[in-house]
Parts: sequence; structure tokens; C-alpha cells
Amino acid sequence: MVLGIVLINLLNNIENFKFKKFIVNDINSNIINLYNLLKSEYNYLKNNLVKIEKKYNSLQDLKEKEKYYYEIRDKFNNTDNKIRTAYFLFLMKTGFNGVYRENKNGKFNVPFGKKEYIKIDYNNLEYISKLIQNVEFYSMEYKEFFALLKSKNILKKSFIYCDPPYLPEDEIVNQKQLLYTKEIFDHEEFVECMLELKYSKYMISMTDSKLANRIYGKFEKYTARELMRTINPKKSFKSTELIFSNYKIDRNI
Ligand SMILES: C[S@@+](CC[C@H](N)C(=O)[O-])C[C@H]1O[C@@H](n2cnc3c(N)ncnc32)[C@H](O)[C@@H]1O
Repeated sequence: MVLGIVLINLLNNIENFKFKKFIVNDINSNIINLYNLLKSEYNYLKNNLVKIEKKYNSLQDLKEKEKYYYEIRDKFNNTDNKIRTAYFLFLMKTGFNGVYRENKNGKFNVPFGKKEYIKIDYNNLEYISKLIQNVEFYSMEYKEFFALLKSKNILKKSFIYCDPPYLPEDEIVNQKQLLYTKEIFDHEEFVECMLELKYSKYMISMTDSKLANRIYGKFEKYTARELMRTINPKKSFKSTELIFSNYKIDRNI
């Protein structure tokens, strides 16, 4: 699972930047709840994850593990308690391809990933927990988030990095394959909204496709070559991505 990789990289190299504060938003509350729990109750998260991980690894065969996976998936879909975040991480580890996907009712519906054994990297989780202590996390629609920054009087001073859902590289790809949640992301509306943010500097990363070039054509364009894109923990490939921005960056990346 490669969540918030840009944030982690920035925080790891904080001395190279002049930013005073980091504020993160994603409409997917599971991701944001994970960061918030990591930030404030790492031990709670770890203790619960250890129990679930041990139980999974102790089960005799894949049939039993599969049953346990679906039990946890049901619990995850039917609770609002903070334990949900431990279930979320477990499901990301054991679900098919480590992806997050919801059905039209907003329920997580990824099938079992048939893993014999899982190993959660607690050192890394603890490291991230320490790293994000000064980051603020929000889970809302991007327009609401910009309104929040405006109400705090920091929108104009902010540098905004956006990583919206990817457009298909091939226009024939079914749009549904790209959905992370039950909501469809309207790229045209997003572009309109960004064009209205006249005073903030921003960057948007996007797949390199005809569609992306058409929809995002009003911005400055840069190419990020040879980027490693991770689809799932086993599948990474080199790909070219585009960066669109409302200011001139001095070179391609
Ligand atoms: C390409 S992923 C980026 C993931 C993230 N940068 C990371 O490293 O985990 C696109 C993200 O956009 C979020 N998203 C989709 N629609 C959104 C909206 N209307 N407002 C805010 N975030 C949204 C999705 O939940 C998803 O996590």
C-alpha cells in the first residue's frame, strides 16, 4: 500500500522546503482516519493489528483465512468505531492486489487476496506516526477543503499539490476501473475550480493520455519521466506522468 507517498517524501526531506505547515485532504475517510489514528493513538492501532495479524497467520489453510478475511470485511463495513482503521489496514494487506474499492452502496468489496502469511511493518508505521505529528488531516470534498483554507486565511499563501483520480491512459478503458469510491470524479469541474484559485500556486499530477492533455490543456505542462507507478505490491512499472501547474517550473522532472 503506497498511501500519501508524496507527503512522506516531503516530510522526509523537510529541510529542503520552506513550508511552515502541512495540511492533507482526501475524500476517502478511511485513509484520513488511518493517518489520524497513527498520529494520535499508534499503540491502540498496533495492539489491535497485532491481534488480527496473529490470528490470520495462525489459521491452518487458505480456506480458513478466506473465511476470516470476509468476517473482518463484514465488520469493517458495519462499524463506525475506531477499530475500523485496524480492519482497514488488515484488508489492504490481505485483499486482492492491495487495492481499495467500494460498491455502489459505499461498501468495501475487494475479494480475498489468497495470502498464506502477512507481515505488518510496525517499525514503518511507528516511523510514519512520528513523522506526521504536525500534519493536519481532513476528509472532505476538495471544494469544501479549499473553502476551509480560505476561511483560515491561508488559501492564497498555500502551495497546493493535487493527486486526483487518474484519467485512463487509453480512452477505451472503462471509467469504472478507475474509481476508488462510489463517486465519479468530474475532471472538467475540477479544472474549473482550480482555474478559480488565482492566487495560490498549485501542481496537479495526472496520467499521460490524450484525454488528460485535452481536459488539463489550460495549465502549464511538465513531464515526469520514468516514474515508478505501483499498481499493487507485486506490480510496478515505469510510466510517464504529467504535471500541470499554474506557474512555470524551471525544468521537466
Ligand atoms: C490517485 S489517488 C491519490 C492517492 C493519494 N495521493 C495517495 O498517495 O494515497 C486519488 C485520490 O483522490 C481522492 N478523491 C476522489 N474524489 C475526491 C474529491 N471529490 N475530493 C477530494 N478527494 C477526492 C480519492 O479518495 C483518492 O484517494
